[in-house]
Amino acid sequence: MNLRPFLRDDLTDLTPYHVGQPPHRVKADANESPFDLPPEIRHELTEAIAQLQFNRYPDPSSDLLRAQLCEQLRVDKAEIVVGNGSDELIGNFMLAFRKPEACVSFPTPTFSMFGILAQVAQIEAVGLPLDDRFDLDPAAWKAHLDAHVINLVFLSYPNNPTGTNFSTDAIREILARPDTLVLLDEAYYEFSGHSLMTERERYPNLVITRTFSKAYGLAGLRVGYVVAHPEIVDELNKVRLPYNLNRFSQLAATLLLKRPDRLAQHLQLIRSERERVFNALKAIEGIYPFPTDANFILFRTDSPAPDVFQRLLDHGVLVRNLDRPGPLKNCLRITIGTPEDNEMFLAGLRG
Ligand SMILES: Cc1ncc(COP(=O)(O)O)c(C=O)c1O
Repeated sequence: MNLRPFLRDDLTDLTPYHVGQPPHRVKADANESPFDLPPEIRHELTEAIAQLQFNRYPDPSSDLLRAQLCEQLRVDKAEIVVGNGSDELIGNFMLAFRKPEACVSFPTPTFSMFGILAQVAQIEAVGLPLDDRFDLDPAAWKAHLDAHVINLVFLSYPNNPTGTNFSTDAIREILARPDTLVLLDEAYYEFSGHSLMTERERYPNLVITRTFSKAYGLAGLRVGYVVAHPEIVDELNKVRLPYNLNRFSQLAATLLLKRPDRLAQHLQLIRSERERVFNALKAIEGIYPFPTDANFILFRTDSPAPDVFQRLLDHGVLVRNLDRPGPLKNCLRITIGTPEDNEMFLAGLRG
């Protein structure tokens, strides 16, 4: 069959999302948690499976999970949507607000899905370079947004892969614009402790996404959520697929939310390891780590990044090679793991 006439020209240069997984002992390439589900929750889940009705569709609105989130976040149920990972919700947001005159904007470098999902949704997308401290340049943002009638702005806070939290004044300047909706992706919020959640009353155009994939250690079950004004939530629900979150994931996330003590312990360990690894990196000749608020560290090397990547892999440690011309030249990203994981990484780097 000749598929050519059916193909979308605008997707010709898009390659399906793929991350290589060569054999490794330490997985430090995707900002996941090194801690799997605690045995008590695993046990509770196993028991609950016995009662789950696999032949019936799950609750289409994930009511129990949303109720639990509302209690924790002190927001109304009408302000929450849950999704099959926050990726899905970012995509839903693009679909819900795509209009011919809309422009998607994000800083660069940032989370690659913002650009990919905009391309898939056929919206004009523009990346604005971060300044040399990896912060937003307010004048450049103002000039860019002024040139468009409808703006959809995507900010990862803290930013992946730089690890930085943008200046709140710069974000507020964007939020104050009546022509702009801002999706603030707080996937790494738990590690930074900084959020703009309380600003939602002042800025109804602020849409916050969070995920269970990082601090909560539930990447394998794909659960994310949006907190936004009910009118925005209504629009998201129009494009969200029914039953988007399966029964098992709804249950696991609900159970995890009831165990904040576990999360706090893990966060404390990751934060102290982050500081230890950062200082150790600084002490290695030819390695330059960037300050971070997330569970990963971006670092530049004097040696070519592909060589460093391979040396680490030979040592059993898989990191992300972000090397490309521009601000990420010779840069790699390491996800903070257990103290043992981090030691292996540092030993591999010291060679
Ligand atoms: C900034 C950012 N947002 C969202 C995600 C994906 O989250 P989820 O697993 O909830 O789709 C990631 C994953 O790396 C990320 O870095």
